[in-house]
Amino acid sequence: MQKRPVPTRELQFPLEALPTPKGQLLAPLGPESKASAYGVAPGDLALCMVGGKKKGARQSWLRQVLEPGVGRQEAPCPHFGFCGGCSFQHLNYQRQLRLKTGALEERLRQLEEGVEIWPAQGAPTPWYYRSKVEFSFIKEDLGFNLRGLFQKVTPVRECLIAPPPNRQILERVRQWQKKYALPGWDPRLNEGLLRYLIVRYSFYKRQFLVALVTTTPAPQNPAADPALWQELAQSLMAIPGAQGVIHVYHDGLSPVASGQSEELLAGKEEIIERVNDLEFSLGWRSFFQSNPPAYAQMLAQARRWVGPQEKILDLYCGVGSIGLSLEGDLVGVESVPQAIANAQANARRLGRKAQFHCANSEDWPDLKASLIIIDPPRSGCHPSLIQRLLKEGSPTLLYISCNFSRFWEEYQSLKEAYRLERVQFYDFFPHTPHLESLLLLRRRP
Ligand SMILES: C[S@@+](CC[C@H](N)C(=O)[O-])C[C@H]1O[C@@H](n2cnc3c(N)ncnc32)[C@H](O)[C@@H]1O
Repeated sequence: MQKRPVPTRELQFPLEALPTPKGQLLAPLGPESKASAYGVAPGDLALCMVGGKKKGARQSWLRQVLEPGVGRQEAPCPHFGFCGGCSFQHLNYQRQLRLKTGALEERLRQLEEGVEIWPAQGAPTPWYYRSKVEFSFIKEDLGFNLRGLFQKVTPVRECLIAPPPNRQILERVRQWQKKYALPGWDPRLNEGLLRYLIVRYSFYKRQFLVALVTTTPAPQNPAADPALWQELAQSLMAIPGAQGVIHVYHDGLSPVASGQSEELLAGKEEIIERVNDLEFSLGWRSFFQSNPPAYAQMLAQARRWVGPQEKILDLYCGVGSIGLSLEGDLVGVESVPQAIANAQANARRLGRKAQFHCANSEDWPDLKASLIIIDPPRSGCHPSLIQRLLKEGSPTLLYISCNFSRFWEEYQSLKEAYRLERVQFYDFFPHTPHLESLLLLRRRP
């Protein structure tokens, strides 16, 4: 049966169009309905193919810009539009920032009265800003997932938001893969050797670690020869700034860039990053905020907002960077053992009296503190932690969120005991729809 052609329509995107959480803009499509499209600018009149409804809007695809709106620029990355990483490279940076902060600020004003909204901060470094990046191998390709497709990658030559040496790293890994005809992962068959390539970068030292996640080659497989891995490690270590290459073994089926065991192929396992006046050691597994120069601005502000504290409980503490930036007796809780080892080493180096514990934050028994810091992953906190905060939480909460919508859902419960006093948005993620929020909450009398 022949497929029906997708109808094409002229769509007018309003000048004050607000982006969806994924970075599409919305245009009216008749009295009741809306269309969403990537790659359009506020004010564009555009010819779009209009498809079926998804999450309340008809999905559309830009065919031609008929009358350009505001803030358009030529996207510098050749992979833009295919790669699922960036949604806003076709807009100049100021327009992107306005678009995404405007959306959240407007929502906040509509939903809650009396919140102080401090001026949003753009990123000091909008390009090559990510402190860590994960490329995927799929069959013979190495790159990022195509937009919306998890079984295919766009073979990236260079990523303009990944750490600066990513082009050389990608080139060398590709040459090596080709030389030995090493198969990348096939997600349909659940087999293959090479799975992920991770680069962790320090802006302060301009140094990097590379971790290569693979399945374990069978003993009779030529890829089991250690010389082959040494060849790659030495080739990567010859790139200026290289500090270590780690081979990570991941034989399970879960699509995560991690593994059960690892081996240091060359160099060392940690690098040093500096944020404001503090240095942190980081392994490839430990979380660190994605844009250290923007993070430095946020930490300085957090320090001004909360001042010296008697006792600080830093939940989801990673390598301890937020708690260690503040003054007060510190207890940190984090679930990744390597991050806890880094946090302990960081406190020792800084001469700080601090305790760091490897545990789930929701299970941490003692919430007594003058300040609790909460910086959970995108999925938010465990509901039981929110319930405990209502009963036993500190007078002040400093919530750091990379997913404002999730924070807002949690706030619907938290507001029984806390009032959102102040918010400031920071752009840790230029060219993407994401934003970081610094949120100050006070316990209601
Ligand atoms: C958004 S990061 C924040 C890290 C740190 N606060 C920082 O600024 O670098 C979230 C951290 O929570 C950790 N994590 C995830 N689930 C957790 C849980 N249930 N309990 C404790 N830590 C958890 C992750 O390993 C990660 O380090």
